[in-house]
Amino acid sequence: MRVLGLESSCDETAAAIVDDGRIVRADIVASQNEVHAKYGGVVPELASRAHILNVVPVVQAALDHAECTLADIDGIAVTHAPGLVGALLVGLQTAKAIAWVTGKPLVGVHHLEGHLSAVYLEPDPPPMPHLALIVSGGHTSLVRVNAHADVVELGATRDDAAGEAFDKGAKLLGLGYPGGVEIDRLARTGDASKHVFPRAMVAASTGAEFSFSGLKTSLLHHVRAHGVPEGQALADLCASYQAAIVEVLVRKTRRIARRERLDHVQVCGGVAANSGLRAGLRTAGAEDGFTVYVPSPARCTDNAAMIAAAGYHRLLRGERAALDLDAVPSAPLPRVA
Ligand code: KG4
Ligand code: ZN
Repeated sequence: MRVLGLESSCDETAAAIVDDGRIVRADIVASQNEVHAKYGGVVPELASRAHILNVVPVVQAALDHAECTLADIDGIAVTHAPGLVGALLVGLQTAKAIAWVTGKPLVGVHHLEGHLSAVYLEPDPPPMPHLALIVSGGHTSLVRVNAHADVVELGATRDDAAGEAFDKGAKLLGLGYPGGVEIDRLARTGDASKHVFPRAMVAASTGAEFSFSGLKTSLLHHVRAHGVPEGQALADLCASYQAAIVEVLVRKTRRIARRERLDHVQVCGGVAANSGLRAGLRTAGAEDGFTVYVPSPARCTDNAAMIAAAGYHRLLRGERAALDLDAVPSAPLPRVA
């Protein structure tokens, strides 16, 4: 089954063509980083406008890359929740228009279900059931994945997401947007033992919940007291800040994997591209005896191949969305279709 995926929930306009939820024929992402960089974060109205300009060329590029036309598509999968409502609407209306003119089936995909599906595009995906750590710019949660679209959220952040901690930290340090990439880059040459930042909610009693807002405030106090350093000192500060985020994520993940008796763990979402987190989880897995699965870095951040992969399983089960499918800015991960 050949699925056209569309994603426009935040600041990436993406279209992809995926066969049988596994084989990527085209994967096109138009990033808006340049549009938002000078604001240090995504400006929703600018995102919507850029999506409108990008969406048709991106779909056409995906079709061209896969050397096919809309007639060769068996179904359309589109992110309809959660996200910036104006941004979601652009992908959603485009998907509906394509479904209407071609008569092909349409399904709505929850963005996090998409992130969870990115790993199935890798040669060696995790078996079911497994534990998933979802770490993106807007979400941080630990999820038990029993089967495709049969997921149970075990805990989530009470405040900022891990990606937000990276982005807000980077903004305080005058680094570019998206901040995680810059902190990751600088941290590689830094000494993480130079500064000690707080590790919040690591006690066993906090279960699978996270809190990252205090970390950013701690960096704010540090910068107010000492200013923003340069050169090696900046690298050391980034490494120390990143280490605090990574340590909390790794400690929680290994504890919950043990509690749930799951020996396969995937990590997904933009922060899963972080080199410190990838290495930290692999080391923890080797010590505790669980296997770690991570999508390739480009499939950690937003893309439409993961949406097509998730949509494939819904289409396969006969799910069909009506043309009144709506954009939902905030929605929990659906447990079972
Ligand atoms: O999944 P994603 O593309 O969008 C959302 O669904 O939010 O995640 C974007 C987030 C941003 O916060 C960005 O700073 C972070 O992922 N990110 C990283 C890295 N690459 C992207 N964070 C840490 N290290 C990275 N290498
Ligand atoms: Zn995302």
